[in-house]
Amino acid sequence: MLAIRLVREPERLDTLVLPVRPVGPDRPPALVPTASPPGDDVRAEATALLPAARLTGAAGEVREHLRPGGTPARLVLLGIGDGDEHGWRSAGAALARAAKDETYVTVALPADAAEALRGLVEGLLLGSYRFRLTEAGGAPALAEVDVVVPDPDTLAPTLAAARTTAEMTRLARDLTNTPSSTKNPGWFAAQVAAAATDRPDLHLRVRGPEELAAEGFGGILAVGGGSASGPRLVELDWRPADARTHVVLVGKGITFDTGGISIKPVPAMKLMRKDMAGAAAVVAATLGAAALRLPVRITTLAPLAENMVSGSAFRPGDIIRHYGGLTSESTNSDAEGRLVLADALAYAERELRPDLLVDLATLTGANAVALGKRHGALYSENDQLAADLLTAIEAAGERAWRMPLPTDYVEYLGSDVADLHSSPDPAKSITAALFLREFTGDLRDRWVHVDMSAPSWSEDVHGELTRGATGWGVRGLLRWLATLS
Ligand code: BES
Ligand code: MN
Ligand code: ZN
Repeated sequence: MLAIRLVREPERLDTLVLPVRPVGPDRPPALVPTASPPGDDVRAEATALLPAARLTGAAGEVREHLRPGGTPARLVLLGIGDGDEHGWRSAGAALARAAKDETYVTVALPADAAEALRGLVEGLLLGSYRFRLTEAGGAPALAEVDVVVPDPDTLAPTLAAARTTAEMTRLARDLTNTPSSTKNPGWFAAQVAAAATDRPDLHLRVRGPEELAAEGFGGILAVGGGSASGPRLVELDWRPADARTHVVLVGKGITFDTGGISIKPVPAMKLMRKDMAGAAAVVAATLGAAALRLPVRITTLAPLAENMVSGSAFRPGDIIRHYGGLTSESTNSDAEGRLVLADALAYAERELRPDLLVDLATLTGANAVALGKRHGALYSENDQLAADLLTAIEAAGERAWRMPLPTDYVEYLGSDVADLHSSPDPAKSITAALFLREFTGDLRDRWVHVDMSAPSWSEDVHGELTRGATGWGVRGLLRWLATLS
């Protein structure tokens, strides 16, 4: 991965990157003052280039200028838009992609560098991400970036936070991009174990089918019953001594979703290896919180199952007994995510008794119908908690929109034969959230659910997003967790 260093003075000037910002309509953008000016002659030359460079200063614009025999030998003008963290994140991603032949660049930052640095580093590391099994198209050449800042020592923690955030987002992307022939529930649990080994202060418990049966996790067992690869429940605990708040994170971990007996048609099934993106995000966020030693206790639950079609698969019309005893009637085996989440939420509420409960799930196609391809659908009864999470998500460069939990829609959850009907037809994302709420007990108003099926995947390159898994949720969760200390 890209090596990023903080330096006070440029050490070996080869390619120098200078930020530019828009000034106003019909005017060329302006060079942004930087902490360590490149020297008046270079700056004057860059300023003179601006009108001809046909830049607007928009975040992510890149122009390269050659200076044969000069030091630096190349100048790169980089648009940073508003110059805030978002602008720098897009700029960093664009720079990582544009530097096709460059292996080493030096970036000059403005004097007030913390936000810029955070955005730049995340952009560089996320924009240069490639899934390791699909190198087609070639990886960016850029290997080393020196960032010139006024005080490298004070900014070291900012660099560390940005790097950890990006590394964990990359881990979530790797897990989500991995083909399901490799990624069964046991494999996913083994990946978590491997990532947690060098951290003795992280505790991991993995339940297999026998333990799940002994303890009554009927939802996970029903959904996992059709697969030759049995289900798991990952429980990962970060428990720092100075924690005052305990958060439980739950992530949907369907390692492949065929729809089960209610099988999906071809186009709907083709991307269903991503149906564990919620589990990947909560695990990666927890590993990140441990790496940054955030003083908040986090227990992460990832119910893992493969929703397959076979003689042992659960059937429409089956009645499932969830952890804790509530029963649900399933009439569509493709509404499997809520069945595994219900067990995990009930277990969290009864056994872990946290202060706050958050779940992330690629739960319904309706998320994208309502909000398009980049917004998660966020549900909570708690206005403050919802606002805090939305603020963190937005600050981290992700997007979500709050959705309602209408009281009168609860009637859709009625069943003649069980406590709840698990797959009502109307308002699919909302009724899924209402179903989950039934399992939160007295944590009901300290619970947040995010349906993130839409933003978990990107069809195109966009800012710091590459094609494929986005790692959505890792950045927002880490920001939010950092505020709970
Ligand atoms: N994993 C899917 C949801 C999904 C769809 C995620 C598209 C990402 C992209 C989920 O298990 C599912 O099949 N949901 C059904 C629910 C319905 C049967 C009530 C859906 O969205 O149609
Ligand atoms: Mn499904
Ligand atoms: Zn699913």
